[in-house]
Amino acid sequence: MSSKVIIGAQWGDEGKAKIIDILSQEAEVVVRSQGGNNAGHTVVANDETYKFHLIPSGILYEGTKCIVGNGVVIDPEGILGEIDGIAAQGISTSNLRISKRAHLVMPYHKALDGIKETYRGEGDIGTTKKGIGPCYMDKAERSGIRVCDLYNEEVFKARVRDNVEIKNRIIKYVYEQDIQFDADEIIAEYLEFAKRLAPFVTDTTVEVYAALKEDKKVLFEGAQGTLLDIDLGTYPYVTSSHPVTGGVCVGAGIGPTEIDECIGVMKGYITRVGKGPFPTELFDAVGDQIRDKGHEFGTTTGRPRRCGWFDAVIGKFAVRTSGLTSIALNKIDVLSDLDEVKICVAYQKGDVVLNEFPASLEELAECSPIYESMPGWGPIDHIKHYSDLPDTAKAYITRCEELCGAKITMVGVGPDREQNIYVN
Ligand code: GDP
Ligand code: IMO
Ligand code: MG
Repeated sequence: MSSKVIIGAQWGDEGKAKIIDILSQEAEVVVRSQGGNNAGHTVVANDETYKFHLIPSGILYEGTKCIVGNGVVIDPEGILGEIDGIAAQGISTSNLRISKRAHLVMPYHKALDGIKETYRGEGDIGTTKKGIGPCYMDKAERSGIRVCDLYNEEVFKARVRDNVEIKNRIIKYVYEQDIQFDADEIIAEYLEFAKRLAPFVTDTTVEVYAALKEDKKVLFEGAQGTLLDIDLGTYPYVTSSHPVTGGVCVGAGIGPTEIDECIGVMKGYITRVGKGPFPTELFDAVGDQIRDKGHEFGTTTGRPRRCGWFDAVIGKFAVRTSGLTSIALNKIDVLSDLDEVKICVAYQKGDVVLNEFPASLEELAECSPIYESMPGWGPIDHIKHYSDLPDTAKAYITRCEELCGAKITMVGVGPDREQNIYVN
């Protein structure tokens, strides 16, 4: 079993980076395959906190090759800032690789992300405003600019000029905004970025394939989460990529037969940033307590995360749509000190009980959670072995696993890389 996919099984921020970091101790290659610097991945190790947005979370291990695959959208300024930031923390990026095929986030993508959100008004999505949606739009519309284009100056200049002309018109005439971009300025700025990025740029599909064929241990690091998937999530309150397992194949350029295991990362409760439906959301003191104790504020935007009870309908959906072979359940320490914890086992819609996550948001809005209540547990953040967990915590883990339909093999009891319990 050498290749493992690690994906978010809720609405993102499940603690994927912590799991990647733990598994990276044995991994030789870590690959990002979708999303961009909308992701915020935190690793706590050796009394330091590291935050990654585009760079794979395996970078802390010197020998691990970290690949940013073709399905990722790359803001060059963002990734160079990250490279500098982690170099300042004493971490080498000599093992970083960036796909030639990845699309570039351009300044007009970031501007349009903000402009569109303002235009949507009350109906805004609550995006991270990192230009992710507009960049994937251009990719799908076939007017995007890719990393390889940076190294063919004539092609690059022509593509930037074409795009700037049309984007300026859209901004001026459709959205009636004053902002206008200067193609030459962008070209000059991006060609400088290109020089700095050059040592990292390669055909990553070749490197990933070679690693798999050499039976190296490869981890695929998901960003965002299942319910933010553009096909399977709570559309339109989603991101513009495929955070489910299927996205890994396209975004890393591999076939499905190369994947040996799929680990879905969940929290012992659920959070969501941005807008959109959230059946188990808590609006009371318990929700506030979870937010405070779990430090539930966005890694990328600092926004407070909405908090709610664990939703097994969502867990089951993630197991089904990503073919999860196991689950890592993080942050159950955050539920310590609660007398009672709840799990949503199904939804009540009028007289009907729904056991599957509905496609229509209007239908979802009519659903109220059906809860099972369980007794809570005390402090557990010091516990190292599963057998030492209180029986109430074990019962909670077992019930989550039964309802979701996949084995929970790892349990998080704190943010540090050491605060992880293997379930045996
Ligand atoms: P990601 O986007 O899925 O990688 O998750 P984030 O890094 O955005 O958010 C997860 C947050 O929870 C980070 O601050 C982690 O340090 C923290 N974290 C991860 N696992 C645990 C855990 O088991 N317990 C606690 N208390 N914090 C955790
Ligand atoms: P990680 O990898 C949580 C959310 C945004 C917004 C929606 C669309 O850290 O789990 P976008 O900027 O992608 O167009 O925003 O998706 N979102 C995330 N929420 N974790 C993330 O990443 C997210 N990336 C995007 O808040 O609701
Ligand atoms: Mg995050």
